[in-house]
Amino acid sequence: MSDPAALAFALEQKLRGWHDAGLTHLPRAVFVAPPPLAVVTPAPPTTPVEAAPAVDVPTTVQSVSQTQPVINVAAAGDDIMAKSRPKPSGGSAALSVEERNQQLAKVAKKVSACVRCQELASTRTQTVFGVGNPQARVMFIGEAPGADEDAQGEPFVGRAGKLLTDIIHACGWTRQEIYICNILRCRPPGNRNPSPEEASNCREFLDAQIQIVNPEYIVCWGTIAAQNLLGREETIGQLRNQWFEYGNATVLCTYHPSYLLRNPAAKKPVWEDMKLLLNKMGLKPPPPKKPS
Ligand code: URA
Repeated sequence: MSDPAALAFALEQKLRGWHDAGLTHLPRAVFVAPPPLAVVTPAPPTTPVEAAPAVDVPTTVQSVSQTQPVINVAAAGDDIMAKSRPKPSGGSAALSVEERNQQLAKVAKKVSACVRCQELASTRTQTVFGVGNPQARVMFIGEAPGADEDAQGEPFVGRAGKLLTDIIHACGWTRQEIYICNILRCRPPGNRNPSPEEASNCREFLDAQIQIVNPEYIVCWGTIAAQNLLGREETIGQLRNQWFEYGNATVLCTYHPSYLLRNPAAKKPVWEDMKLLLNKMGLKPPPPKKPS
């Protein structure tokens, strides 16, 4: 249908039909670009970040509509979680901190009893759910717990975690202000990469956390986090410098802190990525600390 008048008429009819059927809002997913993922929509050119010099500026926004979080509420949590299903403008925005904590605790309890991945369940010391602010603006997603995380039950507490914490502080935040979790909630033996099946088994829990916290921004740390969350196959180098959408969140991908430990030169691009994120959030990094 190429005639604009006919198109407008047909659209009006459709909307009237939905309205008459009692529909007052459309979920956001209806509006995001349909697959295929390879379709790249130019980013809105107006935000100050995009105009900022000195930073490698992402030039694209990609929608990942087919990977919108679809949460099996009955399986991941309970009736309370049902209340947190996405509203047109904001997931669990109406929930209090206490309600979010309660819901997260319920999901964490399920996670702690999970035996979907037999190998992981039989080798873990404990599950590693997630930490931080249940109403954080930013969620950090890593790969999977390592030995230190498995021992302490908290994500990113080993060497890579210390570096991540430094990055968090350099952004002007504390660990308590953001929310941190992983693609997997159990340590893969020998720190091997999570298998696709393991990631898929754990996805319901990750999506529940995303839905309850309802962050405005998600940072995927490393290839595993980025590829799994977004359903992409490109390398992290290719996925950097682009904005993606996942549910209600705007997503940025960057190198994993473990990679930075092995390749300190990659700290610079990661810092560029963090500046980009802060800019997009309307924040500025704090001035560097003077040496004491
Ligand atoms: N690496 C990760 O990806 N996550 C952790 O929690 C620790 C190390």
